[in-house]
Amino acid sequence: MTAPGSQPAQQGARSLDPHLSRYAARTAGMTASEIRALFAVASRPEVVSLAGGMPYLAALPLDALSADIGRLMATEGLTALQYGSAQGMPELREQICEVMALEGIRAHPDDVVVTVGSQMGLDMVTRVFCDPGDVVLAEAPSYVGALGTFSAYQAQVVHVEMDDAGLVPEALRAALAAVAASGRRVKFLYTIPNFQNPAGVTLSVQRRTEVLEICAQHDVLVVEDNPYGLLGFDGQTYPALRSVEADNVVYLGSFSKTFAPGLRVGWVLAPHAVREKLVLAAESATLCPPAFTQAVVTRYLTQHDWKGQIKTYQEAYRERRDATLSAMEQHLPSGCTWTKPDGGFYVWLTVPEGLDTKAMLPRAVTQRVAYVPGTAFYADSFGSRQMRLSYCYPTPERIREGVRRLAAVLEGEMELLSTFGTVHRRNLSGPQTPTPDTA
Ligand SMILES: Cc1ncc(COP(=O)(O)O)c(C=O)c1O
Repeated sequence: MTAPGSQPAQQGARSLDPHLSRYAARTAGMTASEIRALFAVASRPEVVSLAGGMPYLAALPLDALSADIGRLMATEGLTALQYGSAQGMPELREQICEVMALEGIRAHPDDVVVTVGSQMGLDMVTRVFCDPGDVVLAEAPSYVGALGTFSAYQAQVVHVEMDDAGLVPEALRAALAAVAASGRRVKFLYTIPNFQNPAGVTLSVQRRTEVLEICAQHDVLVVEDNPYGLLGFDGQTYPALRSVEADNVVYLGSFSKTFAPGLRVGWVLAPHAVREKLVLAAESATLCPPAFTQAVVTRYLTQHDWKGQIKTYQEAYRERRDATLSAMEQHLPSGCTWTKPDGGFYVWLTVPEGLDTKAMLPRAVTQRVAYVPGTAFYADSFGSRQMRLSYCYPTPERIREGVRRLAAVLEGEMELLSTFGTVHRRNLSGPQTPTPDTA
């Protein structure tokens, strides 16, 4: 993120860059995400980080995995360390179809393209469909990594309102009409229907059909990004948009949240006609996805109780969600409202009017708690009264402590607001990193 007040220093650094006049115009849209810079500060042990979306990997059977990877090297090392096909290994693509069947998708392995995480899928899809100035519709708020990709390809994001049941169909219609009236072209709707990042809400089943119908009527492609769909807390899954409509939906999947993000294995399931373009885009980016990590995932899906592991994750995240919501209920000052996720990693918090979550962050970090300000999740700098809290990584105890600290920060800000009519800031030169004596 751009730390509050750090802009002038960054601009100064840019103007010293001797390559400035050489950069392609598209690099103007490539800026550090709010989350990236936060990681450096928030990873200090004294800070309770409710900022990053890191999966709780301690729930994995590391000993069994390590023995298995050893066996993989001994028996399949020469293939696992070799170049592979641009589209990904056939066996893994078949297994991916079985994983997607859990959310009602019937697909052929030929239409699956393995990617280096679903982030690469997002990059490929945007590269294949968007020219500079094209419009992408995205939920308000939306995944920061997707916004970064859209901006890097000079696509313009138009946000569409959500409520507790996800994307609002009337708002989608209105956004399509407004873009058409402005003479621009919408290339696709980017949506995260399940346990959305950052809002934690899920698109209702009824709205799924409606959203698909609206997009079909307006000849707009749907890009369905679904890394959290199997992480519902009661084990419930929702029918994927792709399970209802095959020809107009590009589906992005990932093993990052159900297995491990360090492997960087994701996939795109594309309408058959689009598949070839995506393979070419993938090939020009990486030649082929890593054979080694694909082999690890294939072996994991064959040898391990991967459905049991997903259950273990669901339970761990449910416990953390419960700790978060009950601590919020207990400690946050009145005037705060928040979403109630049924799965995934995130809660979206709205603070009382007059407060600004980005400006408040330095004080929060001084009080040893970190979050991501809401503005990170908008392309148009909305979100100043919101923040994303991630409960996926810290223990329930640390979460409760983090929420207590956050509540104290909010109360302090509200007191300033009621005394001075504004929140007085002494120092906006960037987050105050906690020193050992504040730890
Ligand atoms: C909605 C969404 N899409 C895509 C990604 C990227 O995931 P991957 O690790 O598969 O690249 C994330 C990661 O947090 C995400 O939340």
